[in-house]
Amino acid sequence: MSQDEIIEHAGQLLQAGKLVVIPTETVYGLGANALDVAAVEKIFAAKGRPSTDPLIVHVADRSHVHDLVERVSEAAEQLMSAFWPGPLTLIMTKSDRVPPQVTAGRDTVAVRMPDHELALAVIQAAGVPVAAPSANKFGRVSPTTPAHVAAELEGSYDLLVDGGTCTHGVESTILDTTSTPPRLLRPGSITVEQLESVVGPIETVQQVVSKDIAATSPGQLIGHYSPRTRVVVVDLDPVALANAAAQVGAALQGVHVLALPSDPTKAAQRLYSTLRHADGTNSDLIVAPRYENSGVGRAVNDRLFRSAHGDVVSVNDANQLIDALRPRLPRQ
Ligand code: TXA
Ligand code: MG
Repeated sequence: MSQDEIIEHAGQLLQAGKLVVIPTETVYGLGANALDVAAVEKIFAAKGRPSTDPLIVHVADRSHVHDLVERVSEAAEQLMSAFWPGPLTLIMTKSDRVPPQVTAGRDTVAVRMPDHELALAVIQAAGVPVAAPSANKFGRVSPTTPAHVAAELEGSYDLLVDGGTCTHGVESTILDTTSTPPRLLRPGSITVEQLESVVGPIETVQQVVSKDIAATSPGQLIGHYSPRTRVVVVDLDPVALANAAAQVGAALQGVHVLALPSDPTKAAQRLYSTLRHADGTNSDLIVAPRYENSGVGRAVNDRLFRSAHGDVVSVNDANQLIDALRPRLPRQ
């Protein structure tokens, strides 16, 4: 099939209530017609996702937002002008058109317009808004390549639209525009600094996730983005951690030090494939670095923190690191 035929076919499948995997600039999404309850329910079943965790609705055109929401605040208008299409999801008060299954019964809906030609073309061809969570099993590492999607969900979707490797690598920034000031629910590659340059100060939440915060954005649970292997975050930057790696390897067995670039934007791009690779090395423990908590570094820290179930250790040197890792390993 030519690219145009694939787009056409994907649009027809979505209209018919089928599941279509779509590439986006962040991660791959498992898409369904957001207005078709039966189709939306298939997403939850395929992912093993609890029905209490709401979905993001994707649109191909800003004008379509008005069908999905009650009103668009001035801040939301400004943010859409500045960052759409792009990796920014806005929470707004929902309209009656959006089924409660999409929003997990909330009166708000998450909307975004992806910055990806294929995604936009497929949504356009479908002629409906497309609900799409990341195309992975619930709680697992998000997919940034078609192979990642197939490894987890093969057999549970009707079509996978191949768009190669996702360029950003971490999920969209989520901002709640129903509160004043707007509130950051998930950091992503549209940074706090960028958002504040458009709408002024926003509220950011502590990275330590309390039950209250989890209730605001259910996907923000510790333990999201987890490989099977235990992960620990070390309060060392990627260079310092890499420098300690040889000493750690000599002292301990079964430790895999994540090799991530110092540049947080590059780290975000490679984060999930690096975690997947590390998970495949048969190690007992994956050790991850920590980035400066600004810019895209905030998003990388967030995902690593969650993949480690909140296990972060502070160390000053390789010896302290070895001492901190030893009790996290099987007896050796
Ligand atoms: O980059 C992305 O956003 C990707 C691509 C596919 O677009 N999608 C994605 O979806 O990351 P998902 O389902 O993995 O994460 C959606 C997050 C969840 O944490 C969910 O709790 C939150 O969005 N969310 C959705 N609707 C919400 C709402 N009404 N209020 C608060 N949080 C909401
Ligand atoms: Mg997800």
